[in-house]
This record gives sequence, C-alpha cells and structure tokens, in this order.
Amino acid sequence: MALEVDLDGLESEARSALATANDADALEDWRVDWLGRRGRLTTVLRGVRDLPVEQRPAIGAGANRLKGELESALAARQAELVAAETDGPTIDVTLPGRRPPLGSLHPVTLTRRTMERTFRDLGFDVVEGPDIELEEYNFDRLRIPAGHPARDMWDTIWIADDDSGGPRQLLRTHTSPMQIRYLERREPPIRVIVPGACYRYEATDATHEWMLTQIEGLVIDQDLSFAHLKGTLEAFVRRMFGGEIETRFRCDYFPFVEPGAELGVRWQGDWLEVLGCGMVHPEIIEDAGLDSSRYTGFAFGMGVERVAMLQYGVRDIRHFYRNDVRFLREFDRFRGSA
Ligand code: DAH
Repeated sequence: MALEVDLDGLESEARSALATANDADALEDWRVDWLGRRGRLTTVLRGVRDLPVEQRPAIGAGANRLKGELESALAARQAELVAAETDGPTIDVTLPGRRPPLGSLHPVTLTRRTMERTFRDLGFDVVEGPDIELEEYNFDRLRIPAGHPARDMWDTIWIADDDSGGPRQLLRTHTSPMQIRYLERREPPIRVIVPGACYRYEATDATHEWMLTQIEGLVIDQDLSFAHLKGTLEAFVRRMFGGEIETRFRCDYFPFVEPGAELGVRWQGDWLEVLGCGMVHPEIIEDAGLDSSRYTGFAFGMGVERVAMLQYGVRDIRHFYRNDVRFLREFDRFRGSA
C-alpha cells in the first residue's frame, strides 16, 4: 500500500491560505495551522517514519524543503504587512499638494509695469539709463549749471570728487539726463519713456525717500504744442486711474523746460502732484543739433512710488523699502497681473 503524500497540493493550499492572511493575528493562526506542533506540515514530517521504507527519503526530503519554504514565505508576508502598515496610511495620494511659498512682484514693480504698458499703448518706446551719471548730464546740459539754486534741491551722493581729475559722477537725482543721452543717439520723431532709480540725499518722511523710482518721458517731433503734452498726459492718467479722475495743470519751474508745469490729480478731496512736465527748452533742442524752429517737444517726469501709493492706498512711502513681508504679502493677490 503506497501512502500517498501530496506535497504539491499541500504547498499550494498553504500558500493561498497565507496570501489571505491580512494581519498579525491571521499570520499567527496560519503559522499554528501549518508549522505549529500539531500543524499540517509538522504532522506530515512526523508521519514520515511510519511510511514504507522506500518512500521515506523522498517524502522526508520534500517535506523538509517545504517547511523551509513556508517559513520564508511567512517571513516575507510578515514584512509585506509591516511595510503596508507604516507607509500606507501616511501617503494619501488624494490629498491636495502643499503649495511651495511663492514670492510676488514688488508693488513698485507692479506699478512700474502697468505704467510702462500704458505708455507703450500710447506709442512710446521704453529704454533705461545709468544710475551713476556724469554731472554734466545730470545738471549742466539740463541747464542747471554749478551754483544754480535747483542743485540745492537735488543734492546726492557723489562718486568721484574734484581732485580725481576725471569727470565728476554722481547717483543721478532724476531720470531727466536720459533726455540728453537719447537725443544724442536718436533722430526725431522721438517718443520714449525711461524708468529707473534716482537718488536724493535728503531727509525722508511719509512721501519722500532718499531713493525713488521715476519714469521720464520725452517726445520730440515737428509742430508739437502744449496741447499734445496735455492730451498725452491726460490720456495716461485716465488709463491709469480711470476715466473719472480730475486733473489740473499748474505753472511750475524746471530749468530744462519752458513753459514748465505740474500735473495734479484729485485724490480723496485733495490735489496730489504726480508729475512735472513742460515744453522742452529750445536750447536743449539746439544742443542736440536740431532746428528749434522746426522741432519742438515735451518732457515729463513722475515718481512711481507716488503712483503706487495712489493705486494701492499706501499711506507711507517708506513701507516700500522696509522689506516687511507682512506688507509685501498684501500684494500677493496682484501676482501675475503685471
Ligand atoms: N526731473 C524732475 C524731477 O526730478 C521732474 C521733471 C520735471 C521731469 C519736468 C521732466 C520735466 O521731464 O519736464 O523733479
């Protein structure tokens, strides 16, 4: 009588039972069932000695091999469950991702870009000039010679002093010197704006900083009149602040224009000066090699921080450069709008 021991059948039964064991208790039950003292495989092993002699070696070796394999299958399944328990619940792929904190554009940059776009729409080119400027361009060639009282208002930081022998340089006090530089390089018709930083060595308060951003404008062509100046600047202001805004021009003095004016806008019941402007002085046109009886034009200069204060309702200009993130975060919602 050949006592049949179906090791293959036992193995597949044991393996499929193991695959359904999903926690530590089920694994322990399985271990007791198959490898425990009265487990099914243990019983087979113990029964080997009762087998006919010629069957013993084959069945014995096969059952021992199976025991080793089931033990490692148990260990593998155990490891699988531990891994599932620690990793599984901590990764929920359905949760929304965490946004990395993104910066936003500085409010002065936002305003500067809006202003640039507005002037581009009106047909202006945009160029930049050097922050470190020659005295000659910042003052003399704008008709502000040494000793002129206008120099007192525009004290600044000087880069090279008299003794160096070279030309005197300074941190430009306004963007107006780019009028001269641009006229040196270009022929009319000219329609350009120049955004950039300017520096004034002066006490700061809620509306004055020692560094400011300006946008200079220069338009030169034949037969331009003050009406072109008014029309252009009013169009700009309406596009920036909306069609309802009230404006006024008043006489003002700047050495490089004649006549000169300031443009004010009505803001919360008050008039607020937003820019200086005027018809380019004929001497400046002649210095550029142009016939001032044919060519005329106008120029203007405005502070970007002032405009940003109006746009965003900022009360103190010094907030812009304190780098307080609580202030800067207020502008996150304008990200991408410039
Ligand atoms: N440069 C002047 C300033 O810094 C502003 C200015 C006034 C610019 C009149 C101009 C102008 O072009 O025509 O205060």
